[in-house]
Amino acid sequence: MTPFSAGEVLARCDVLATITAATDGIERSYLTPEHARANWTVGEWMDEAGLTAWQDAAGNQRGSLKGPSPEAPVLILGSHLDTVPGAGRYDGILGTLMAIAVVGRLRARGAALPFGIEVIGFADEEGTRFGRTLLGSCAVAGTWQESWWSLRDPHGVTLRDAFVAFGLDPERVGDAALDPSRVVGYLEAHIEQGPLLQDAGRALGVVEGIMGARRFELEMIGEAGHAGGMPYGRRRDALLGASEVVGAVEELARGAGAIGTVGRLRAFPGAMNVIPGRVEFSLDLRAETDQLRDQVWDEIEETALKAAAARNLAFEVSELHAARATAVAPTLASAVEAGIRATGDPAPMRLMSKAGHDAMAIADLCDYAMLFIRCKDGISHHRDEDVRADDVELALDAFEAAVLAVADAHG
Ligand code: GLV
Ligand code: MN
Ligand code: MN
Repeated sequence: MTPFSAGEVLARCDVLATITAATDGIERSYLTPEHARANWTVGEWMDEAGLTAWQDAAGNQRGSLKGPSPEAPVLILGSHLDTVPGAGRYDGILGTLMAIAVVGRLRARGAALPFGIEVIGFADEEGTRFGRTLLGSCAVAGTWQESWWSLRDPHGVTLRDAFVAFGLDPERVGDAALDPSRVVGYLEAHIEQGPLLQDAGRALGVVEGIMGARRFELEMIGEAGHAGGMPYGRRRDALLGASEVVGAVEELARGAGAIGTVGRLRAFPGAMNVIPGRVEFSLDLRAETDQLRDQVWDEIEETALKAAAARNLAFEVSELHAARATAVAPTLASAVEAGIRATGDPAPMRLMSKAGHDAMAIADLCDYAMLFIRCKDGISHHRDEDVRADDVELALDAFEAAVLAVADAHG
């Protein structure tokens, strides 16, 4: 296979798809044996491309290409290597492997860049294991929070214990952070995870910004009881209360132009002939502005409290994650646009990212811009996630040209 071609990048996505904790799909979460194997595999590919590879103090897989002098700053390229449960093979993975391929191409053409490059395969963008997302990129941005150490995974393992079991030292997590004065910016390539590029007949697009998001763990608490004996008038059915909230999430978010999803719901004790006494459910809420997102949350909370009061239930909220809406940096976005123009598209499409990305955490460290790649029917977070090889070839050309445009602008 030609080195650094779309064919090679896609074949590597196939290899990583085999590193999974699930027997019937792809699942690779933070600080697991699969995470370690993926890092090791990607590290080998980084070395082959001429990068010096290492795993950082937060479990991110990194590779660096020296700049023209020891003082030269670095341009960061990357995306994430973790997945949701039942994932496709391109979300995050494609962007990380494209970044490695682009470094290989730049070296092959002998490009003299005024900065070094650091490629990062972020360790936890999805937040699948500990609920709190963007842990890897927050470590690099220097925004890791002490309170996260007590986060627990579904088996009750704390983030601190998982760190130690993975061979990392919690006291050293700060070592993963980059110094903002030494960073030129961050470029990320990613599948769109929506249908807009496909609908417009475009292979590539320039991201304008990333929606702000909040994630909650919600709980309705009533009382379990006999499904036959307990009269309706005396029931405190937590699932009926939660169902009202699930319906309101769609209605309120949709009406306001935001996006709300309840992706997980568990009723306890979970038996056919027992009234559900307690329900745990999640909420993922996104909007173009933080103000709109927060306003919709206030309305959802008010509705939930009313539903709880009407059914004599308690409603409890725990917020797991909040990320502000971010805008791309005009200079870097222009470089991405120039990169796409270099592939023959005279007027690249601009679009907002409704999905979250490592770029939103890295925005606390430095400017960022993103390149979106069309994905089939907008399908993502699903095993049928798919991309076209010719789109990936164009994306590699555009991403490489974007790095060169950043170099030109950097002088
Ligand atoms: C990341 O994939 C997200 O949930 O937006
Ligand atoms: Mn994802
Ligand atoms: Mn992603």
